[in-house]
Amino acid sequence: MKRSVLLRINGERHEVYIKPNRTLLEVLREDLLLTGAKEACGAGECGTCTVLVDGKPVNSCITLAMEAEGKEIETIEGLSKGGDLHPLQEAFIDHHAFQCGFCTPGMIMTAKAFLNRKPGPTKQEIRNAIAGNICRCTGYENAVDAILNAAKEM
Ligand code: FES
Ligand code: FES
Repeated sequence: MKRSVLLRINGERHEVYIKPNRTLLEVLREDLLLTGAKEACGAGECGTCTVLVDGKPVNSCITLAMEAEGKEIETIEGLSKGGDLHPLQEAFIDHHAFQCGFCTPGMIMTAKAFLNRKPGPTKQEIRNAIAGNICRCTGYENAVDAILNAAKEM
């Protein structure tokens, strides 16, 4: 049976009318057309679907939308302000930290939550932080450099 769910996403309220088994990723992408978070494994293993819920990175493919009701949800679409990219987005571009880009929104959201918690990280701490975000293209080194640089900017 469908029910109404109120979601707060990137500072805006959205009411959706959904079945209880819909995942947060499905609702973001299919109902609200916020397609930055991607689906790859669909099983909580790869991190491409990462969004922040109350500041913590979650795999939205294994999170029910209903579980996020009443919480602050942040997606990659909410990072740029007034046309200005977030320092992490700038740094990923400057360091050529992506190729196909499929993993990038999830990796940046993980990095954002991490830097909020740990503003002056070491490279190894960054590697550990993004260990749950799988990238098949880049070898990670440029992403680590980008996050390190963004930490300095932030
Ligand atoms: S698609 Fe969600 S963790 Fe892989
Ligand atoms: S840039 Fe292609 S998967 Fe990471």
